[in-house]
Amino acid sequence: MTSYQQMLCILQYHRVSSFTETCVDLGVFDHLAAGPLPVSELAKLTGTHQRALHRCLRGLAHFELFTKEEESIFSLTNVSRQLTLESEFSLKPWHKLHRAITPQDAKECESLEQLLRTGKSIIQIKHNCLFYDYLREHQDIAAYFDKAMESASQMEVQDILQEFDFSASEHLTEIAGGNGALISGVLQKNENMEGQLFDFPDVVNRIEPIPRLKTVGVDMHVSLPDIQGNAMMKRILHSYSDDKAGHILENTRHTMRSGNKLYIFELIDDDKINNPYIGVKHLQMLYVHGAPGESGGPGERTQAEFASLLSTAGFELVETQQLPSIDAVVAVCK
Ligand SMILES: C[S@@+](CC[C@H](N)C(=O)[O-])C[C@H]1O[C@@H](n2cnc3c(N)ncnc32)[C@H](O)[C@@H]1O
Repeated sequence: MTSYQQMLCILQYHRVSSFTETCVDLGVFDHLAAGPLPVSELAKLTGTHQRALHRCLRGLAHFELFTKEEESIFSLTNVSRQLTLESEFSLKPWHKLHRAITPQDAKECESLEQLLRTGKSIIQIKHNCLFYDYLREHQDIAAYFDKAMESASQMEVQDILQEFDFSASEHLTEIAGGNGALISGVLQKNENMEGQLFDFPDVVNRIEPIPRLKTVGVDMHVSLPDIQGNAMMKRILHSYSDDKAGHILENTRHTMRSGNKLYIFELIDDDKINNPYIGVKHLQMLYVHGAPGESGGPGERTQAEFASLLSTAGFELVETQQLPSIDAVVAVCK
């Protein structure tokens, strides 16, 4: 983990604690005390939404609370066994004490319980709308979001510019490029390159003019303008279910030329390696976007999940690369 990622984990650690406490309340740990269970079975026993529970367990597994035995089968670890009644030194009384003296934390867990039971995000539960619609209605919060993305982006952009040479193509398009930090960095390095950036109209209207960059207001779920050369997207697909992410990729493929490359910059979840940053991201995604769709996402994806998503949308995954702050998935348009 980079120091930025480590600090973000510390800031977000309360999500790990709250989801863990909610799992205690729902009996998740007690039901697993007898042995491993498929998520479908555990969801029935705890009255929870299967895909929301699955994403929660995937997130908490990065903190050694669960082991993934095989696809969708989870068991306790020596750490989480301390939260069951059978444990010789059970920590359950600490959980009960904490509950009794901090009612505000109990309230947070009530909301998370609702999330895990219904699969709805906290934004849906509290404001009855989806995250990005909520931001569009609340420009003050949208401005905080832009700044937060910008801070994460600075290091990611540095790593991407250092590792990737985009000079093979005279044109480059960034889909949902936000404030344009990435594409403007690439254009600065490649003086003969022309760029395009697509995002919501209100987002592109906030971008100061950047030399050789055309900005276009779009709704990427509906359609995209023509894309010459290669394309890229950073931190986009993880906000969507496979159905919606697949639809964005299909819209992208329809306007790209066969043989051109699509660079996807996101985290790749390796479920054999505990990575608290990825664990926190899973929980954050669950919190703001709710349960994954039928086949996966929103949330961080494994390499196999990316390969299958891309192949369904008409791309072939040709390379993955780990950078210090973000990972890269490179695909070719078929
Ligand atoms: C998580 S931010 C990532 C921004 C940028 N790629 C980065 O890494 O800093 C997601 C971006 O997707 C844009 N977005 C979300 N839904 C969109 C849609 N339907 N059409 C176009 N852009 C959209 C948002 O406005 C936002 O800029």
